[in-house]
Amino acid sequence: MWCALNQLAPICLVLFFLQLQASALRSLNFNSILPPTPEEYDNLQPPKENENTPTIVRFHVTVLSIDSIDEGSMTYVADIFMSQSWKDDRLQLPENMTSKYRLLPISWLKKMWRPDSFFKNAKKVTFQEMTIPNHYIWLYSDKTILYMVKLTLELSCAMKFEAYPHDTQTCSLKMESLSYTTDDLIFDWESTVPLVVEPTIELPQHILVDTKLGDCTQEYSTGNFTCIEVQFTLERRLGYYLFHTYIPTCLIVIMSWISFWIKADAVPARVTLCVTSLLTLATQHAQSQKSLPPVSYIKAIDIFMSTCTLFVFSSLMEYAIVNILIGHAEEKEKLANNFLNDIQIIQMKDDDARANGTRIVRSPSLRRRSESSERQALKIDKFSRIVFPLLFVILNVAYWCYYLT
Ligand SMILES: *[C@@H]1O[C@H](CO)[C@@H](O)[C@H](O)[C@H]1NC(C)=O
Ligand SMILES: *[C@@H]1O[C@H](CO)[C@@H](O)[C@H](O)[C@H]1NC(C)=O
Ligand SMILES: *[C@@H]1O[C@H](CO)[C@@H](O)[C@H](O)[C@H]1NC(C)=O
Repeated sequence: MWCALNQLAPICLVLFFLQLQASALRSLNFNSILPPTPEEYDNLQPPKENENTPTIVRFHVTVLSIDSIDEGSMTYVADIFMSQSWKDDRLQLPENMTSKYRLLPISWLKKMWRPDSFFKNAKKVTFQEMTIPNHYIWLYSDKTILYMVKLTLELSCAMKFEAYPHDTQTCSLKMESLSYTTDDLIFDWESTVPLVVEPTIELPQHILVDTKLGDCTQEYSTGNFTCIEVQFTLERRLGYYLFHTYIPTCLIVIMSWISFWIKADAVPARVTLCVTSLLTLATQHAQSQKSLPPVSYIKAIDIFMSTCTLFVFSSLMEYAIVNILIGHAEEKEKLANNFLNDIQIIQMKDDDARANGTRIVRSPSLRRRSESSERQALKIDKFSRIVFPLLFVILNVAYWCYYLT
């Protein structure tokens, strides 16, 4: 209305032209890429070349990061860029498209046919909205449509802990078609660069040793559904376990052997040493697998820990035997002394007249027997000093040879 005012006429003119230009930019609406008869375009029908060939959708995945590998819930988190591209010959190119590709409004995605892929082993998918929704569509000049999206996925991964902590886990990322069978739709990897894994990926407990592409097409009662997968091979780093489990445990076992060098009659010293070692080992064992689910099979760390516990327990048992032998020796000595005292008293009474008690020597046979028990106990200690470490070294060598190869 205020255009009627004369002095504002130039501004009105400028506004008019701006509006014209804007309408020219806005002119690209969804109908401009639809075929001449838009009613024929069915966005539920995949764009097949002919009836018998399924539509091929090519995937590309860029793995930005892998983290939070959780043994307890058997999941891991991956950040990915995923692109899907397919050719839809039913579409038209917008007028005057001279560039190689053109960005299309993301809202058109709902109106056109798109592959119905879903992440088969995902527990949670997070689509990021900041600062703008993280996806886009390109239309190439050969009518290929590329849909790119960035996602954070929490994926399940069936982990096996038989060799824990020397284990290698294979975790996958599976993409399957939800509603089209292989007669209509097939997923495939992009031929040139199907997968890119950021070389800077750093995991606290694992090393990403390998990535593989695979096909996981599955047969259901309703038909075969196309599926493709990426497999990540994750090898556990041993460093943490070496310094927090293996070395301390070995030291505890070695500590329990000190008992063999302590005098056999020092009961509190030897018992305390062995029992303390046993308790510390039990704590270590519990500590070593607090992040794991309570699996029912035996793990490598269980074998190691149980062996160590057995060693400490054996050194406690060894002392029990030594103590029994020493006890025997002492008992016999006491018995002998009592016996001799009795003899002495009798003799002193008998030989009162002589006034001189005959110097009585201990019965040699009794003394020999008590001494032999003591010697036997010492022999067991001496034997243990060599056999325990030797056996431990042999078992360790066997363990490490088995699990490190
Ligand atoms: C397409 O380009 C031609 C010539 O360059 C031009 O005359 C025509 O207006 C353009 N059409 C659109 C929709 O921009
Ligand atoms: C599914 O695939 C299997 C093996 O590839 C094939 O034997 C079977 O006939 C297929 N089923 C359908 C319904 O296509
Ligand atoms: C008792 O022993 C002393 C020396 O030990 C000796 O001189 C003395 O003659 C002895 N007495 C008897 C009765 O044998």
